[in-house]
Amino acid sequence: MKKTNSHNQNCSSLHYKEEVGARDEQNPTTFANETKDGPNASSLVCHSMRLRLYRHRKILRALLLFAFALTCVVCAGHVEPVLGNTDGVTSIFRPLSQPAQQIKELSVLVLAICGSIFVVVAGLLVYAIVRFRHRAGDELSEPPQVYGSNQIELAWTILPLLIVFVLILVTSRTIADIQNRKPPPTAVKATVIGHQWWWEIRYPELGIVTANELHVPASDGRGSRPTFLKLQSADVAHSFWVPLLSGKTDLIPNRENLMWIEPTKPGTYRGNCAEYCGTQHARMLIRVVVHPPDEFERWAREQQQSASVETNAPEGRKVFFANSCVNCHTIRGTSAQGKFGPDLTHLMSRETLASGAAPNTTDNLRLWVRDPQKIKVGCLMPNMQLTDEEVDQVVAYLQTLK
Ligand code: CUA
Repeated sequence: MKKTNSHNQNCSSLHYKEEVGARDEQNPTTFANETKDGPNASSLVCHSMRLRLYRHRKILRALLLFAFALTCVVCAGHVEPVLGNTDGVTSIFRPLSQPAQQIKELSVLVLAICGSIFVVVAGLLVYAIVRFRHRAGDELSEPPQVYGSNQIELAWTILPLLIVFVLILVTSRTIADIQNRKPPPTAVKATVIGHQWWWEIRYPELGIVTANELHVPASDGRGSRPTFLKLQSADVAHSFWVPLLSGKTDLIPNRENLMWIEPTKPGTYRGNCAEYCGTQHARMLIRVVVHPPDEFERWAREQQQSASVETNAPEGRKVFFANSCVNCHTIRGTSAQGKFGPDLTHLMSRETLASGAAPNTTDNLRLWVRDPQKIKVGCLMPNMQLTDEEVDQVVAYLQTLK
């Protein structure tokens, strides 16, 4: 304790001398007045210590901010488990298909190059800040003045040029690889049309129309079966994004964009519309169901069938066709030929309702038919004002659409 005190005293007197020395240079008269009494001298010491404390606080604040930003970046790649959904994390860092894999490899390379530049520049900056920080007596002499150096200027012009050139080459090669891929004869072709707020999915060559769930075959040892997508929009701009399978591609009105995916692992891959398109943009989810090839053929054959003619829900059928449901929805094999809403021919083969807004269960279907606005506020399907009995009847009819 004693030692610290004596150190503080020494330290204070040192600071005192430093500060006083500096001021002496500038204004000898004031100094002469100040040295006469003690309180003024100690206030100088206090000022110097406060300055140091202030600097430390600034550094601490910068470190805290950096730690917070890093946490945000790490969490951003893992949004789903944070929100409690742990069955199948969607992360751009674990791609399970081309071209997502190729995009990730390129991103890692670009990140590594840019990261190294950041470490070198930030390191030199920190070194300069610490090594050449303000010291007592700095005011007395001027540092060496350097005016231009051909070697240094050449180095910092040519090196960045080379780095940018490498980045351009690897990026354009990846873009060309992805964009120029031609569909092999085995490819599945589908058209995805973005609507507010659901996805219409057509397979023109297979004669299938469905919604919100894109079914594709997996490419396995037996051969490559990529799926080539034509992307269109019926209203505003949307963006098709299934992080594990591919990058984002926009769906733009009066324009057709193309993309392809080639997953190798069967399973359900989730994605979302990635371009703000109105109130329910966040509930415009897309599912890509990847089947083993033979299972895909079976799914396609089932979807090609017209709606099964069931006789066990005649009342519901009557209510459905007596209301304006038929103006918006198609049920193949019936007079319902509306194009505005999703095709309902095989509604019960889908896992979710309202583009992923709710699981496709009897209770949710009832809730949806009674008042769609309860599940998806602002959605374009109106409340049909059906009675409880009619709702039950319509739900019973819809559940025959397998
Ligand atoms: Cu569609 Cu956002």
